Amino acid sequence: MLSLDKIFPAQLSTTPSGWKNKRFVFIIVVLYSILITANGRRPSEPYYGSRIGQLTTFAHGINGTVYAVDETTLFIKNFVYDGTGPDAFFWVGKTSRPSPDGYIIPYPEDYIGSDPPVLQAHNYTDIILRLPMGKRIRDIRWLSVWCRRFTVDFGEVFIPPNLDVPKPKVLPEFKRLAHNLRSSNISILDAKTFYIPNLHYDGAGPDAYFWVGNGSEPNIMGTKVPNERGSLEPLSGYQGEDIEIQLPGDLQVYDIDWLSVWCVEYRHNFGHVYIPKDLDVPPALGQTKLTPQWWYITTASPTMKTKTAHTQINTCKEIIKEKLQVKWEIKGDSLYVELLGRIDEDQYMAFGLSGDNGKSQMVRGDITLAFYDKISLVYRAVDYFLSDLSQCDGRSGVCPDERIGGKNDAVLLAGDRKKGVTIIKFKRPLKTFDSQYDINIPLDQTVSVIGAIGPLNSLKEANAHSHIGDDVNVENIEINFSLKNDNKCTKSLFNIKDSPDEVPWPVNSIANEFILTARIGPTGGKRGYTAITGYNSWGIAWYINDLLIPEIKVVRGETYTFIVEGGNDKFQPAKFHPFYITNSSEGGLGQRNVNEIRDEYVYAGVVYDSEGYPVPMEGATGRYCEWKHNGVDSWRTSGSFEDYTRTLYLDCDQGEPGYLNWTVPTDAPDLLYYQCFTHRNLGWKIHVTDSAQRLFVFNIYLATTISLSLVVLNRRIII
Ligand SMILES: *[C@@H]1O[C@H](CO)[C@@H](O)[C@H](O)[C@H]1NC(C)=O
Ligand SMILES: *[C@@H]1O[C@H](CO)[C@@H](O)[C@H](O)[C@H]1NC(C)=O
Ligand SMILES: *[C@@H]1O[C@H](CO)[C@@H](O)[C@H](O)[C@H]1NC(C)=O
Ligand SMILES: *[C@@H]1O[C@H](CO)[C@@H](O)[C@H](O)[C@H]1NC(C)=O
Ligand SMILES: *[C@@H]1O[C@H](CO)[C@@H](O)[C@H](O)[C@H]1NC(C)=O
Ligand SMILES: *[C@@H]1O[C@H](CO)[C@@H](O)[C@H](O)[C@H]1NC(C)=O
Ligand SMILES: *[C@@H]1O[C@H](CO)[C@@H](O)[C@H](O)[C@H]1NC(C)=O
Repeated sequence: MLSLDKIFPAQLSTTPSGWKNKRFVFIIVVLYSILITANGRRPSEPYYGSRIGQLTTFAHGINGTVYAVDETTLFIKNFVYDGTGPDAFFWVGKTSRPSPDGYIIPYPEDYIGSDPPVLQAHNYTDIILRLPMGKRIRDIRWLSVWCRRFTVDFGEVFIPPNLDVPKPKVLPEFKRLAHNLRSSNISILDAKTFYIPNLHYDGAGPDAYFWVGNGSEPNIMGTKVPNERGSLEPLSGYQGEDIEIQLPGDLQVYDIDWLSVWCVEYRHNFGHVYIPKDLDVPPALGQTKLTPQWWYITTASPTMKTKTAHTQINTCKEIIKEKLQVKWEIKGDSLYVELLGRIDEDQYMAFGLSGDNGKSQMVRGDITLAFYDKISLVYRAVDYFLSDLSQCDGRSGVCPDERIGGKNDAVLLAGDRKKGVTIIKFKRPLKTFDSQYDINIPLDQTVSVIGAIGPLNSLKEANAHSHIGDDVNVENIEINFSLKNDNKCTKSLFNIKDSPDEVPWPVNSIANEFILTARIGPTGGKRGYTAITGYNSWGIAWYINDLLIPEIKVVRGETYTFIVEGGNDKFQPAKFHPFYITNSSEGGLGQRNVNEIRDEYVYAGVVYDSEGYPVPMEGATGRYCEWKHNGVDSWRTSGSFEDYTRTLYLDCDQGEPGYLNWTVPTDAPDLLYYQCFTHRNLGWKIHVTDSAQRLFVFNIYLATTISLSLVVLNRRIII
């Protein structure tokens, strides 16, 4: 039996007098808690989640039983595969049967490199598979071991419709009893893991721990729970961190009635939360991701459970307000970076060293672009050099080092996306031997850094213009990379809510105009170019008659004059936008190689040199005129394009415009596009019709012929 001495050691008399009065309450509580046991709550062992079924074997000895661990995780118990398929992967999809119309679940998840490795041999291995990019089990209908190259199904299992999948349980927040302890709602992520967001605690308790136990209230008969770093030291302060803690040993959430922050020395409960009994939470198989402030050493660890060697990162800087944060650590000769971005799936985030120390400057900056590649279904980290702020034209601009003769020095370590936040980890050497395209990272000084968020183009490169991206840091942000404790992030990106979807502006259109001006202007964020065209913009677009990418109606046989002010200095790529008319919805003819040139048919603005290469026509270039905003792009707050225009002013360089006359050919197709010769996705549609007059004449002709024939017919009948 328990000795009361142990429960109430002599020390108690030294505690404040109020405590003595509570001794009886304590005894009752303790006895009560010994009587109450958490019986029968644990699921029957072993529990791997909801059973989906046994893999059907078609080839290569496939075997194993598949379970749904949680909404995004599958578990295969005793997976068997002989490993001899040349191009096999775990493959999922939502067609009625396994088919090429699916995608890879990367395994092992923490592989190094940009492409998932081909599946290796397994002999009764337990495997955890996390669906990529926030896909859920309800989004798929089957799991297959699939040979991609030969489209062969080695084995499969179907997800039963209406499968009940274990889910994390949301609890209330910590009761606020002492030492400023508070949090947001706590979650039980799985049978051993608690997620405690926005945790505050003043750290002043001398001997406080996370503490779990049985009974109606927290009491001394509890068990210490290691903190988020796995340490059993007394808790120090928290200032709004999001943490995850795991129950020690064999303890599971089914075995406890409460979780508290408890001071052992003074037997003082600072605050607690009760654990409900009717839990249907995911099993604890190691699938729960530790929060992003953890680093995993990812080399050579085939399963997630071996993800042990981690240290806590306590560095963080907000690069773009509420959108982009960076955490860093120096290990050996490398800088390890974790980028967290509240971005869309088709956006990139970028971080790196400023082109000029002392201010945040994009030009000559050395950045790493990190993003999810939706085509290959992998995360990527790509080393860029910004020689200039135009889109990469193969020599200068916002270019990947590899495209301009350098080397990609960024190595992807891991990627994840949850709650609208993409998290990508990569490393790069502190010093590279590429002085042309890389800036070394100094450890003895503070340096200016830059960051940006923006859209990717179809080549999976940064679409960019005079500012790269949609959002850029404007203040001078500086980092001393050698600091280990420099956490300046006050808010977790996971707790920031997105504003509702933007309402696009109505589409502009132009008809019956024969003289048209063509200038450059901003794209109107998510309400303008992107909303209208469905393509990613790169910050600028054509303004025709000072309207953002209007649909222009033209008539066959008529002549139109375009007064072009898109720039004529080809040595300034960001200000060189020759105008042309084409059947390509993307444009950018000058970027195409010899073989691709034929994909487009050009109607105006381009001539061909003696070797057959296209060059902009004289009249298709003119001085540079750009509609600009006063520092802030107010597309979000502008209800209409007209409102938006009022926030812009026109800025023109010296010089003359170009004049391009275009007579619409009589055989022109109904849909053409006006575009920029040097950059993709600047223009929009031209609708080609026949003249109303010609139509009218034609109709009269038709009508006359028909009535005449009728007369003839009638006569015949009469005759
Ligand atoms: C799959 O494994 C189970 C036991 O783990 C075994 O009973 C079954 O025969 C195996 N199936 C095949 C096709 O090997
Ligand atoms: C697979 O494991 C079983 C027992 O677990 C063993 O008998 C068998 O030899 C193993 N096969 C291979 C190829 O290692
Ligand atoms: C947080 O907990 C409170 C109290 O249990 C509950 O009413 C509320 O719905 C929870 N919030 C969320 C987001 O689940
Ligand atoms: C609570 O009681 C259950 C059942 O007796 C026991 O298994 C469990 O270990 C107890 N929990 C703690 C934290 O002591
Ligand atoms: C950068 O941090 C290191 C390590 O704390 C320190 O020694 C150094 O003085 C700092 N440099 C500057 C310029 O603040
Ligand atoms: C443009 O026209 C050319 C020649 O008629 C044709 O080969 C090409 O497919 C067209 N391209 C588009 C995008 O319609
Ligand atoms: C273009 O058309 C206008 C008006 O018809 C005419 O004045 C001008 O000379 C033409 N320019 C060229 C380059 O053909």
